[in-house]
Amino acid sequence: MSDLVRFSVSMPEALLEQLDGFAQRRGTNTNRSEVLRDLVREKLVDEGHVVPDEEVVGSITMVYDHHTPGLAARLDKIQHRHHTEIVSTMHVHLDDENCLEILAVRGQGRVVANMADCMLGLKGVRHGRLTCVATASTMAGQHVHHHH
Ligand code: NI
Repeated sequence: MSDLVRFSVSMPEALLEQLDGFAQRRGTNTNRSEVLRDLVREKLVDEGHVVPDEEVVGSITMVYDHHTPGLAARLDKIQHRHHTEIVSTMHVHLDDENCLEILAVRGQGRVVANMADCMLGLKGVRHGRLTCVATASTMAGQHVHHHH
């Protein structure tokens, strides 16, 4: 095993409680450091599907509070700026304050990842996730349709 480096982390108490709850539900190991290491590894594996120089396809899913001042306008602006990467959008008004938005995306990995970061980092976005695969690996070895 490689050397472990110790560093301190600050997070809101409520988030830490959620982390402990998650660790307990998982059951296998409730050690905070171990749980955090696993989460970071999982996240990095997800990010690994974004190949910066290749075309990727995927989706961005987010839940946001539409009462947050300026948020809807900011999201709108980012999405218009990336109209070539956003293939389709679905918007669901979940309840009085929450919106669910699912975007189908396609474009250069780096561009898609930056776009997702811009949106998911905004204040008022409660949950967000980019899931994607490189089209080259998706299509590899599959039957190819020829259109005449
Ligand atoms: Ni809505």
